Amino acid sequence: MPQDPGPRVIVALDFPASDPALRLLDRLDPRRCRVKIGKELFTRAGPALVERVCALGFEVFLDLKYHDIPNTVAAACAAAADLGVWMLNVHASGGRRMLSAARERLDGRSQRPLLIAVTVLTSLDADELEEIGFRGTPAENVERLAGLAQDTGLDGVVCSPREAAGLRRRFGEDFRLVTPGVRPAGAAMGDQRRVATPAEALAAGAHYLVIGRPITAAPDPAASLRHILEEIERS
Ligand code: C5P
Repeated sequence: MPQDPGPRVIVALDFPASDPALRLLDRLDPRRCRVKIGKELFTRAGPALVERVCALGFEVFLDLKYHDIPNTVAAACAAAADLGVWMLNVHASGGRRMLSAARERLDGRSQRPLLIAVTVLTSLDADELEEIGFRGTPAENVERLAGLAQDTGLDGVVCSPREAAGLRRRFGEDFRLVTPGVRPAGAAMGDQRRVATPAEALAAGAHYLVIGRPITAAPDPAASLRHILEEIERS
């Protein structure tokens, strides 16, 4: 694990407006979790909310999955870094020049955000992948795109807990693995299908766990986070 004394749980703020997101953050401690702001909340509440969440002391993973021509993606990454985010992501399938441009634009900042790649969306099955022109199995594509991300200097990838062990072996300790699809023992699955417990995901090599509804939809989100952290400590 690269040096990072910060929290390993990233709470997904999947809300349709800033008010419920801020109400949740009132009940969480930035020393115990980081947070993820994705496309829905960002599109509704915008950069002002990102800056506000950063000002509350939370480290923010801005999950906007940029995918465009190199110059546009590099400029968007710089804009995200200006908001003060801790981590952001791009699609590895944007290609080598796009990934390098994004990385280079962030280099030289005193507080550079971590730059993570999305490999293959887990919603795509083998048939859909073939339909959009990808050869090989989803797993082969994940590995190839993760290799491209590492080769272009990115800090890691988003991956499922099931992919984590293989990627950890292949790409080493310093390549950050961020895993959604995490459910504490006994929690509702929601629409997730292939899940792992926090302990299983960490044992497989994940550095950071993205967890949404088990915390955000809990009657007592702080208690739910506490239980998850205890489960991690025990593992
Ligand atoms: O509520 P839940 O814990 O399922 O939330 C998981 C979060 O991780 C959501 O923001 C979801 O969009 C994101 N995610 C995912 N699976 C992926 C990539 C991202 O669940 N493969």
